[in-house]
Amino acid sequence: MMTPIDHEDAVLHLRAGGTSVVLDVAAGRLPAIVHWGQDLGDPSPALLADLAVAARPQRISGGLDRPGRLTLVPQESDGWLATPGLAGHRAGRGFTTALSTTGIDADASSATVHAADERGGLAAEIRLEVTASGVLRSRIRLTNAGDDDYTLDDLHVTLPLPDDADEILDTTGHHLRERAPQRRPLTIGSHVRESRRGRPGADSTLLLAVGTPGFGFERGLVHAVSLAWSGNHRMLAERTVTGESLLAAGELLLPGEVVLASGETYETPWVVASWGDGLTMLSGRIHDDLRARPHHPRRPRPVTLNTWEAVYFDHDLERLTALADRAAAVGVERFVLDDGWFLGRRDDTAGLGDWLVDPIVWPRGLGPLVDHVRGLGMEFGLWVEPEMVNPDSDLAREHPEWLLRGRDDLPVSARQQQVLDLANPDAWTHLRDRLDALLTDHDIAYLKWDHNRDLLEAGDGPGGRARVHDGVVALYALLDDLLARHPGLEIESCASGGARVDLGILERTHRVWTSDTLDPVERLQIQRHTGLVVPPELLGAHLTSPVVHSTGRTVSLELSAGVALLGHLGIEWDLTALDDAGLERIASWVALWRRHRAMLATGRVVHADLADASVDVRGVVAADGAEALVTITQVASSRSHPGARVRIPGLDADRAYRVTTLSPDDAATPGQSPLQWASGVTLTGATLGVVGLRAPALLPQQLALLHLEATT
Ligand code: DGJ
Repeated sequence: MMTPIDHEDAVLHLRAGGTSVVLDVAAGRLPAIVHWGQDLGDPSPALLADLAVAARPQRISGGLDRPGRLTLVPQESDGWLATPGLAGHRAGRGFTTALSTTGIDADASSATVHAADERGGLAAEIRLEVTASGVLRSRIRLTNAGDDDYTLDDLHVTLPLPDDADEILDTTGHHLRERAPQRRPLTIGSHVRESRRGRPGADSTLLLAVGTPGFGFERGLVHAVSLAWSGNHRMLAERTVTGESLLAAGELLLPGEVVLASGETYETPWVVASWGDGLTMLSGRIHDDLRARPHHPRRPRPVTLNTWEAVYFDHDLERLTALADRAAAVGVERFVLDDGWFLGRRDDTAGLGDWLVDPIVWPRGLGPLVDHVRGLGMEFGLWVEPEMVNPDSDLAREHPEWLLRGRDDLPVSARQQQVLDLANPDAWTHLRDRLDALLTDHDIAYLKWDHNRDLLEAGDGPGGRARVHDGVVALYALLDDLLARHPGLEIESCASGGARVDLGILERTHRVWTSDTLDPVERLQIQRHTGLVVPPELLGAHLTSPVVHSTGRTVSLELSAGVALLGHLGIEWDLTALDDAGLERIASWVALWRRHRAMLATGRVVHADLADASVDVRGVVAADGAEALVTITQVASSRSHPGARVRIPGLDADRAYRVTTLSPDDAATPGQSPLQWASGVTLTGATLGVVGLRAPALLPQQLALLHLEATT
């Protein structure tokens, strides 16, 4: 129940899930957050008021008579001299705004701040919610209350950082190397990460974190924001000479992309903000938040086989039914037919846009394969790339006006493809009808929804308007529509691997394709940082062939499966090339994952901060602390052999755990297994987390899998 707050002199304290957010409502035109982080308990109103007073900026020599305030929407009219929270104009006029609080509705953990700039003709609603897991969610709605058009250039959610937050962590990357971490100090100025690719992109930062110097997974105060949006965006960390530091995130609007007519409203994407003493706590809050959603995938995640690396474009019913037989035999539960099944799609130069089954390759349609897969007890999944069009397609020939472009020339192509103008209602309806027909005509439980290019010059026609924003809105509407028409349908978000991983797409999809690289050594890094936001049950992870296609590296099944084990397990491998012994080994890994998947889908992901970067220790600890699955991976050779002791964080300090090695795949370790080293010891969670145990004598690129079971 929301209560109106007398905002003239109020201090608001929102609390939930171990997080406090305190707002000084009286000091500026709009409230200023004076604390976001650790729960402060329940101070009296007088103590809270003094907390607010103690945080107010002071007048300084050479400064403003009324010092600037970092409010929920920082504005020049409040003396703010750094990056503003709002920018826009009315045909070049009315550039400055003075949004001021007109009312606040609040309950114990959330608030809606109503604000208006009557002269400027703007009204805003700023929403803040502290969730049960301690995540702070915020979004802003801006309404043009004036008579003429308001061109919105920028609207960000802005949150303050503690003064000690001095080191930035964000992620960057490219195809086959998504979400590689980078760090730098937060000095005076701005660190801005932008995506202008029309999709987040492999280079985009999944979250922008700032913490105390050297913060890691296990400890170090750190705050971060992530944006629930699948298009262009901007995130920034900024420190001013007046002693403020902040995180801000919002959509990056192209020129003229959002023009609000009188009475129209723009709503920012949700900004999901979290904090923790260490990244494990910070990301745990985000995982818990996702898991609390009513529509979070809860049924056991089906082991998936994807056909891409097994057959690529070589679609042949006999070959694929043989692959399905092998898949079922090793315990696969979902068989996904990848790219290559539709009209004219013999390679990646043609066909995108024509979502009809190719009669040459599939003379009897997909029915025989679907029936075969279903007959084996597996779900059937299908690859689509709905937003894309090859100029060599019937769709492009019939509707050239449906391709995004800003000039007469088409944008520079990528993978020989162009992009459909999804915001065009005719194109949207055509696509919806084609996909709906596919889903109606076939027993399809799953779509792998791909998106294989960055957008350029994404306009609605020559000399027209930018369409990235509208395209994302149209995509979300399309996904919502298909999910409503086909209850139970699951969708995987894929984009040249992991180039569309964000909390916006995850509202409508059921897992992400983390990366096209299946190289476990590369995957360790990619999964670690994708996992900052995405919990294991939504993180597509496939074991693969001994010679990895993307890197040429030779890897053991133990490494490939062990790394995939802490995600949503699948297989990307031509199983028809394996003998019975090889299939049995895979089957044992699949069985092992199936035994643990319920725990993996509800447990806490942990990573050890080890000085020796050649060793990777990570795991998932059951929500009740009763067990854990941990991998120790020797990424490269260590300075010592055997390696030093490794710690296993995140266990219940007071409980005793029996440590056993799990190695369903004995054949992977020829000779005397080094993995038998400490199997059977029982140690307390505190011992394991603080003192550790000697690492097994692993050779480079060997992995040990431990099961820890509480005995007390
Ligand atoms: C890119 C995806 O990431 C791959 O997994 C595969 O589906 C190809 N596209 C197919 O073209």
